[in-house]
Amino acid sequence: MRVLAIESTCDETGACLAERTGDGVRIIAETKASEAEVTAKYGGVVPEVVAREQVAAIIPVLEELWYSVTESQRHVDAVAVSYGPGLIGSLLIGVETAKALAWAWEKPLLKVNHLVAHVFANWIREEVPELPAVALIVSGGHTDLVLLKSLAEWRWIGGTRDDAVGEAFDKVARVMGLPYPGGPQIQVLSDKAKGESKIKLPRPMINDKSLEMSFSGLKTAVAQQAAAGADKVELAHEFNQAAVEVLVAKTGRAVEVFSPKSVILAGGVAANKLLREQLAVASGQWSVELSVPEFKYCTDNAAMIAAAALMRPVEAEILNLRPEPTLAVE
Ligand code: KG4
Ligand code: ZN
Repeated sequence: MRVLAIESTCDETGACLAERTGDGVRIIAETKASEAEVTAKYGGVVPEVVAREQVAAIIPVLEELWYSVTESQRHVDAVAVSYGPGLIGSLLIGVETAKALAWAWEKPLLKVNHLVAHVFANWIREEVPELPAVALIVSGGHTDLVLLKSLAEWRWIGGTRDDAVGEAFDKVARVMGLPYPGGPQIQVLSDKAKGESKIKLPRPMINDKSLEMSFSGLKTAVAQQAAAGADKVELAHEFNQAAVEVLVAKTGRAVEVFSPKSVILAGGVAANKLLREQLAVASGQWSVELSVPEFKYCTDNAAMIAAAALMRPVEAEILNLRPEPTLAVE
């Protein structure tokens, strides 16, 4: 089984050709046009601006993919597309393009939930995570804990009640005058810190037994400290530490309740070094395997859309597929 997958939910326009190999997924070729430069200029994602760029990018991205492979590799069994959650203007471009291709080629159209795809970034390899697993999805728009009983049967078990953790990273960076996306910037600044930070920030809901999280109060606490003239390096370090501690504690709570075989990290914030390190240490203590995506498959990409379509195919009626901007994990 081989698919052509398209990702265009936010500020990325990506395409990928991939196939199933045993238990995992092998990438044949991938291309992308990131609108991150435009986004950085505006200090964040401006939906209308990004969508206009994507209209211009989608065909060149697909052409580049097609001509980067040999002629014998140019066949697909299905077309896959991420249909939500995301920005409506961005989603429309990917969805309509995928519909046109599936229709013209007379191939099935597979619809992919973008959050589910972040988790399947962990299947782009030969050694795949053992199930049941607890997945921590941490992106710019979402922070969710999901129980994967099998490849097909998933259950949402917890998450943030307000801001997503990635959104908190982005907003904290902005109040510190750093460019978008904020996560990597905060990490670089945080790495410059020496010794214990004198700044103390809250760890919201860390001792609460539920699997609920909250990051808006933490973000506000940083904004107040920044306005009071706190040292930026120390502030970034303490914020990074506080966010990671909460994520690790809540994942630990989920492990305690559901006794999975593995913990799966997914989403843009999965690129965070401290989070990867701390989860690795904790997973050892919890006696579970930890699976983290390759760095380049943490943030949005079309390879993970292909992986989800190959591992958990969901067929759509070609002419009836519509973008779903507020889709949840399912
Ligand atoms: O998954 P993603 O690419 O897009 C969404 O689906 O939302 O996630 C983007 C988010 C941004 O908020 C960005 O700041 C964050 O991932 N991010 C990081 C790091 N790299 C990206 N956050 C913390 N540390 C990082 N190293
Ligand atoms: Zn994403």
